Amino acid sequence: MVDSRETVNKAFVIGFPIKHSRSPLIHSHWLKKMNILGSYTAISVQPNDIDSFFEELKLNKGSDYLGGNITIPHKEKAFKWADAPDEIAEELGAANTIWFDDGKLKATNTDGFGFLANIDQAAKDWDKTSKAIVLGAGGASRAIIQALRHRGISEIHVLNRTVARAQELADRFGDRIYAHSFDALPEVIKDAGLFVNTTSLGMNGSPVNFIDFSEMDEAAVVTDIVYVPLQTAILKMAAEQGFKTVDGLGMLLHQAVPGFEKWFGKRPVVDNELRNMIIADMENH
Ligand code: ATR
Repeated sequence: MVDSRETVNKAFVIGFPIKHSRSPLIHSHWLKKMNILGSYTAISVQPNDIDSFFEELKLNKGSDYLGGNITIPHKEKAFKWADAPDEIAEELGAANTIWFDDGKLKATNTDGFGFLANIDQAAKDWDKTSKAIVLGAGGASRAIIQALRHRGISEIHVLNRTVARAQELADRFGDRIYAHSFDALPEVIKDAGLFVNTTSLGMNGSPVNFIDFSEMDEAAVVTDIVYVPLQTAILKMAAEQGFKTVDGLGMLLHQAVPGFEKWFGKRPVVDNELRNMIIADMENH
């Protein structure tokens, strides 16, 4: 028999496409492990249907779903439909986590939190530096730049194929964020303590041009938000040049923590058991 709480305590992830999302696996693992009756399911919502999805969700004021995650391409819409986005979502103009509180739809963006929690766990003291290099200027880059700013990293160099997009971020986030083309890398990488790839370079094993990391600070950390494969071409090059690397899977796992806690009332833990389960799933597909 299905316990009624399983059909009442419901959360979702919406996106398009959504088939490959690993979020249901992560949240179902935590529900089971923590003995919480509830469910978390992936719902495919096409761009044309997103407004009616939010309309209906808000009409039900949480009686249907407690809330959910929002992924590409609906994060901006989620922000717009929220009654009360927090400061982080407000600054980004995008939300990836929503929940009902007293009938009001609240929203935040946990990508930056996930990014920081991942490197904090894997490379303690990475934030002793004042200079970071960020490759890419899309949605993920925006959340990461915001997180780095909040953490107090004072000088951030954003390098992008389309420099105008990097410039937009520099204008948005203010002082000491510098926009460049990729050509500037050899010059700006000098003494940097953090290198982050937020582009799709290296995804699914695609080759990446050689990057010389040798001028970075000797304690520098290189990280990638791409996690398929776990050791991307960029991480491999950095490791071969003697730098500490942090893969991107942890960001995916950690960004899920605040949503789970909002909907189901308990804070879950990101541990090796969860990580290994997701790795096994990746190997099976
Ligand atoms: P996300 O939300 O995942 O950040 P996005 O907003 O589409 O996705 O951003 C993708 C980023 O990867 C951008 O910085 C993009 O560069 P452009 O702004 O020039 O498009 C970058 N990117 C994607 N494919 C790339 C490639 N083949 N070479 C270099 N950069 C690439």
